[in-house]
Amino acid sequence: MSSGIYRKIDKELQKRKEKSLLRELKVSQGKDFCSNDYLGLSKHPLILQAMQDGITQFGLGSTASRLVRGHHNVFNDLEESLSELTKTKASLFVANGFVANLGLIDALADSRTQIFTDRLNHASILDGIRISGSKKIYYNHLDWEHLERNLQKSNLDESKIIISESIYSMDGDRSLIEKLVELKLKYNALLILDETHAFGVEGENGSGMGTDYPDIDFRIFTLGKALGLEGGLISCNSLMSKQYLINCMRSFVFSTAPMPAIAYAGIVALKIMADMDVERLHLKKISDLLRNGLHAKGFSTGKSTSQIIPVLLDSEEEALAMAKKFQDLGYDLRAIRPPTVPSARIRISLHSDHSISEVESLVSNF
Ligand SMILES: Cc1ncc(COP(=O)(O)O)c(C=O)c1O
Repeated sequence: MSSGIYRKIDKELQKRKEKSLLRELKVSQGKDFCSNDYLGLSKHPLILQAMQDGITQFGLGSTASRLVRGHHNVFNDLEESLSELTKTKASLFVANGFVANLGLIDALADSRTQIFTDRLNHASILDGIRISGSKKIYYNHLDWEHLERNLQKSNLDESKIIISESIYSMDGDRSLIEKLVELKLKYNALLILDETHAFGVEGENGSGMGTDYPDIDFRIFTLGKALGLEGGLISCNSLMSKQYLINCMRSFVFSTAPMPAIAYAGIVALKIMADMDVERLHLKKISDLLRNGLHAKGFSTGKSTSQIIPVLLDSEEEALAMAKKFQDLGYDLRAIRPPTVPSARIRISLHSDHSISEVESLVSNF
């Protein structure tokens, strides 16, 4: 039996190798144009200090789940800070954004739930749908008419959830939040908005794209990208929803709480991030500069309008060769290939601490 599994493993690896799709771990080297450290906060001295202070104050691990002995007031403080910033009723801190999506969807949905999901939604959303046993109904990427046609055809006896990302992680394009809220209300569906790549970058004080829409039922945030730390947050538009998750979200109930020091540093990171309007403006400016520069050289950046800028290429081989060329020049740029994305590309992510001249010299090397 088990040798059959090893045969499957070997076959899959061979297949990936033949198609130039085999992934390998590579230690970071060169100027960072590929991580999600959009505000350059991962090495911020005050956040670093807060992490050290947090460890001194709370020790290392939480030693138990939040429902047993792993709960600390600092988690409440972080959750309240996020709720205040994002204008939501309540928030819940979990290990990371992946667990947030997985656990939330599994807790909300079952075999009598229809989930309307953008074709390009993140793996954590797809896995949440899969483990919940609900019905997955794809709509074409950011195609609101297609979403509405699917909603019109839906089974009235079953509950409905619409899930979208604010900014798409591999394309850098964005949802029309107004439309999502309109459809959610019209078809009596729940709306989950994954704010992972908009958090810190978009909206009032970097609070994301859904802040002005109290009808959104749940929003997903991560400390692992623009905030430079790690951890996930689910914001809820009612206290009852948070209470439900504390009771019924399996990956929350049955898992050791994150390190309290991360929550302690997270509170500091939130404050610093909220105050970074100048950096957010600069990020938009250099993103336009990079897109325009790439277009002038004949490259397509798809529908990107954010700090995430894909350079769309014809083949996996071309993406690998281009990544290698830039790595040799001292840039950390990576090829992103199927099945992560439908077509090969270099995904550039800009950070607010990139200077105009750094972006110009990146463009000049294309
Ligand atoms: C859209 C989206 N949601 C969730 C996650 C998971 O977040 P985390 O990295 O905190 O686990 C990611 C990570 O890449 C993401 O792109």
